[in-house]
Amino acid sequence: MPDAFEVNPWEVKGIVDYDRLVREFGTEKIEDFLYKKLFSYGKAPASLRRKFWYSHRDLNMTLQDYDAGKGFYLYTGRAPSGPMHIGHIMPFTLAKWFQDTFDVNLYIEIPDDEKFLAKQGLTLEQIDEWVKNDILDIIAVGFNPDKTFIFQDREFIKQMYTPACRIAKKINFNLAKAVFGFGGSTNVGHMFYPALQIVPCLFEKKRCLIPAAIDQDNYWRIARDVAEGLGYHKPAQIHSKFIVPLTGMAGKMSSSEPHHAILLSDDANAVKEKVIKHAFSGGRTTLAEHRKLGGNPDVDVPYQWLATFLEEDDAKVKKIYADYKSGKLLTGELKQMLIDKLNEFLDQHQKARAKAHKLVDRFKYTGKLAKKMWEFEDIE
Ligand code: TYM
Repeated sequence: MPDAFEVNPWEVKGIVDYDRLVREFGTEKIEDFLYKKLFSYGKAPASLRRKFWYSHRDLNMTLQDYDAGKGFYLYTGRAPSGPMHIGHIMPFTLAKWFQDTFDVNLYIEIPDDEKFLAKQGLTLEQIDEWVKNDILDIIAVGFNPDKTFIFQDREFIKQMYTPACRIAKKINFNLAKAVFGFGGSTNVGHMFYPALQIVPCLFEKKRCLIPAAIDQDNYWRIARDVAEGLGYHKPAQIHSKFIVPLTGMAGKMSSSEPHHAILLSDDANAVKEKVIKHAFSGGRTTLAEHRKLGGNPDVDVPYQWLATFLEEDDAKVKKIYADYKSGKLLTGELKQMLIDKLNEFLDQHQKARAKAHKLVDRFKYTGKLAKKMWEFEDIE
């Protein structure tokens, strides 16, 4: 069945029809004029230029606010439950581009409660270990420590709880059921959690822009329903597609399938082995056939990853596409290009991560923005 796919904050299954999500979720595709406008502020990363970031709400209004001198702020997050993979880091990479380009505050929520409440078999103690790990990976992206605040729900809860109450009161069970599919067997902690993911949308009176994959959209639909009634802007979003697993175009890369994901902690040998063994190829079964008939880059995971975010050089991407399609470029060669790019990316990331522990306190407690947030009795 071509339309059998599912996207929600906890699961992505099947081949995603992204245009259909735009219609069903009521978002807007990023039109060419808006890409152009974004590119006019500074050189955008490959993931934005290649339209991996493809949908939005109020992105144009966010830029208008910026142009008018009203500013905006950024908000994104990561719910630890295992090692981070290269898909998880994408929203952070885009957040860095926005922060560098527009010089704005960024709030990073680490819900150390969400996966405990939403999933079976995870203890809070296990999550706490992943929290420490994930924060280092996030810091490695290179944010401004005076304009970025990283906070954990269970630690920052005193400041979050008052706005969370105001938000939670506006979400009745029918709405939560319709948006998240909650039912009789959902625990009440899980039902309350959306209020906590919405709180940072109300951290400042400026418009909030959220970079995340489209699986998080359920939260923002509710956030937009409640924000104005509480005296804030409706939060804006920029949505990405999903980095697909190594094994093919269905679903999303997931840490629960570590062989099908490239983890931020993978070393060069692990990358090589995973790509060679598991990367789904659009190549033909024999060399002679491939040379004669050519491969199919549209389903080839190494091509997709290079084109989506890893290869910055637009001309190179075009050439890889053409050469693979014509049979000039072989599957083994294309896989090697991916291995090289991944290892370059991971090497740089891991070097930055090795120094990240020195900055944890600044991002969480002592940086300018962090300090201001901890000093608040009640956010608003
Ligand atoms: P989490 O931890 O599942 O995922 C972290 C971020 O990564 C995105 N993502 C992906 N992007 C591209 N390709 C993939 N294969 C892929 N898998 C995950 C997610 O969309 C997310 O942006 N509830 C959130 C945590 C959270 C949050 C937020 C996220 C709290 N506040 C504000 C975004 C914005 C979660 O479980 O994310």
